[in-house]
Amino acid sequence: MTNPPNPAQNWTETAPGFARLDAEPFPAFEPGTVWLVGAGPGAPGLMSLMAYHAMQQADVVVYDALVNPDILRWVRPGAELVYAGKRGGKPSASQRDISERLIELARAPARVLRLKGGDPFIFGRGGEEAQALKQAGVAFRIVPGISAGIGGLAYAGIPATHRDLNHSVIFLTGHDATGALPANVDWRAVATASPVIVMYMAIKHLPEIAAALIAGGRDPADTVTIVSNATLPHQSVLETRLGEVEAFLAHNTPETPAIVVAGKVEHWRSILDWFDAPARESPIG
Ligand SMILES: C[S@@+](CC[C@H](N)C(=O)[O-])C[C@H]1O[C@@H](n2cnc3c(N)ncnc32)[C@H](O)[C@@H]1O
Repeated sequence: MTNPPNPAQNWTETAPGFARLDAEPFPAFEPGTVWLVGAGPGAPGLMSLMAYHAMQQADVVVYDALVNPDILRWVRPGAELVYAGKRGGKPSASQRDISERLIELARAPARVLRLKGGDPFIFGRGGEEAQALKQAGVAFRIVPGISAGIGGLAYAGIPATHRDLNHSVIFLTGHDATGALPANVDWRAVATASPVIVMYMAIKHLPEIAAALIAGGRDPADTVTIVSNATLPHQSVLETRLGEVEAFLAHNTPETPAIVVAGKVEHWRSILDWFDAPARESPIG
């Protein structure tokens, strides 16, 4: 019995040496469809090739506040840019409004690129938007991105996992849809489940979170590392201890956006912190 032809294999075999990106067989971005795309944590060079392709093809780009504006330079000329983030402290567009706009644009019919910071499915409401598209019968594709909790740690010299110590990692959000500390997080379980806890949107409630983790059995001596503006040239990193968070925040104001890591990770950072002054010079990442 002969195997059916494998197009991917042929493609690999016939593509030696340099290949032009615009000649690659990317999937067609059809009018009437929405691509939910992760733009990564900030540094433009951390965007995927699929994200780049989508930016070159889209008719409309609906983007969030955390998308680095430098990335938008890669949107093809003539495409419409629609901002869907917070502006000047005003409340952000409601999720329903954004989803309805995506559906409306797709029905125009346009190639709609929904560009979100990090990964669309990690604390990015990508699931809600995909759900609305599905219900409306609009075809969509998900293009994952590097989440801030992965990219930010890498740029701070912290391996999210390591065979010697960090055998598991937890990602959690420090506030819920209303801005309050999430009521449905089992802090006791989180405190003991994993050596590394990576927290998004956690600065506002960090003292309460630290207290809940310590009450749940976490070592107050655990390092708390705060990575602000991760992967960007102005990235900054602050460190304190879980038991000292409240006093620390009384005297320090971490810039946002920030990722907070709780765990015994200072050891790795002391060895692996590579994002030094020369590395920061490239605006691409
Ligand atoms: C609404 S969530 C979006 C997360 C995004 N979908 C992701 O996968 O990274 C926003 C939070 O992500 C984190 N974040 C996003 N970009 C960041 C960056 N460049 N540096 C540090 N934290 C970042 C912050 O905790 C911020 O409050």
